[in-house]
Amino acid sequence: MFSQSRMLCPQLKSKIMNAKQAAELIPPGATLGMSGFTGSGHPKALPTELAKRIREFHQAGKEFKINLWTGASTAPELDGLLAQAKGIGTRLPFQSDPDCRKQINEGHINYLDLHLSEVSQYAWSGFLGKLNIAVIEVTAIHQDGSLVPSSSIGNNKTWIEQADKIIIELNHQLPIAIEGMHDIYYGTALPPERKPIMMTKADDRIGETLLRCPLEKVIAIVETAALDRNTPFNSPDDTSQKIAAHILDFFDREIKLGRLPKELLPIQSGVGNIPNAVLEGPNAGPYKNLTAFTEVIQDGMLTMLRSGTLKAASATAFSLSPDAMDEFNRNIDFYHDKIILRQQDISNHPELVRRLGVIAMNGLLEADIYGNVNSTHIMGTKMMNGIGGAGDFARNGYLSIFMTPSTAKNGSISAIVPMVSHVDQTEHDVKVIVTEQGLADLRGLSPKQRAQLIIKNCAHPDYKERLTDYFDRACTSGRGMHTPHLLEESLSWHLNYEKTGQM
Ligand code: COA
Repeated sequence: MFSQSRMLCPQLKSKIMNAKQAAELIPPGATLGMSGFTGSGHPKALPTELAKRIREFHQAGKEFKINLWTGASTAPELDGLLAQAKGIGTRLPFQSDPDCRKQINEGHINYLDLHLSEVSQYAWSGFLGKLNIAVIEVTAIHQDGSLVPSSSIGNNKTWIEQADKIIIELNHQLPIAIEGMHDIYYGTALPPERKPIMMTKADDRIGETLLRCPLEKVIAIVETAALDRNTPFNSPDDTSQKIAAHILDFFDREIKLGRLPKELLPIQSGVGNIPNAVLEGPNAGPYKNLTAFTEVIQDGMLTMLRSGTLKAASATAFSLSPDAMDEFNRNIDFYHDKIILRQQDISNHPELVRRLGVIAMNGLLEADIYGNVNSTHIMGTKMMNGIGGAGDFARNGYLSIFMTPSTAKNGSISAIVPMVSHVDQTEHDVKVIVTEQGLADLRGLSPKQRAQLIIKNCAHPDYKERLTDYFDRACTSGRGMHTPHLLEESLSWHLNYEKTGQM
């Protein structure tokens, strides 16, 4: 059915089978390390057949769950179908699927929400238990069995190394010209054997273009021709444009003060409509020859590469809209030497993020008046997506900027609250908070100074007075004056919302 030009390894030809046959090789209770990062590079055919197999077991009254490890979020045909089949026992390290999220929040899935740079180390160290089968999407298989990676790398190198067995999905839809864009680093080791990673620029290449693959581990090859998830982005609205404008003003000021070079420092941008909109901003500005050291390549980054605003981007995955993916495929020769895809323990590596001086820009659900940030838990208990790479970049970056609209749910929720209901990024790591109302540069400020600035610059006018009142009363409560709080009231805004639908 498929042209064989992508399958050049004679020893593996006998392993070609259909997805149903491959799914039958997966036993109940298996731990699977699948490829996939923000909707790209995930296996497309096997998970559907595995979900069917799980349902058949359940219909026959038999238990069947697998543990699912990936790079990050995947797609409805992976996380969605397996969750719907009630087939996931443990899930790590990140997800954003509505069905998966529901089952996590109902207590049916054990979810390990991990810093994405640390997942490989967890697996190598044995903290997560045994990985049985790696299921990896690739673009082509070379004669010696080495693999041309697909549109994401994520944890694929680690899964291939750690798993007892490997199932390959060979995707004939991926552009063959993607070969050479990847940079797989084989120099990582556990302490005390760890050595410095010799990278001083975001676009340095330090590794190999192919994934090594031990032939004896391969138990199946499934051929597919399915597309990545490729979700469209909303066009930037007024709120995200205002947020972007505040950030660009801030960069201009930092350049004038000599605290940032005119090419900025390598930028990292989280996933989502607002970060994507922020990327559109510099295209209108004076910037040239920026670099990105980030997790995913979004539409905005392709635009920046085309305009020359960005000269190179390092990431672990694409996360493009269908239109942008189409444009990328048509112009892959232009992008080929400007985009480098790395494994996620390198794309997000704390040592590199600190050395390069990355400007980290991520979203948040809520921030408190002292600068602590919650980016994962709605009302303190319900998982949204996970911390992803935000902690890797925020803790270690030169600048960590967190952005959000100042309200959510038509104004019934304030993004600035007296005390966050869950902490992902602490006041020690958060350097700048920005909403459409304004930007608060928290560097060099004490907690009380930060509170005054965040309320003044970032809170929505509907909530400003109440936040000021809370802060003033906390300051005269007679309790500790370093970070004044009214503990009996600090989470009352969340309780109000749960009771009345309004903070
Ligand atoms: N309480 C309850 N719901 C809230 C909320 C709050 N304080 N703030 C936002 N929301 C809701 C929004 O209403 C929206 O709901 P909807 O999908 O039903 O419309 C949803 O959360 C997403 O909010 P939005 O403002 O569209 O933001 P976003 O798409 O930029 O996502 C995060 C924000 C925090 C969820 C997202 O950035 C994230 O998952 N971050 C953690 C991981 C991360 O940072 N990864 C990047 C690292 S490289």
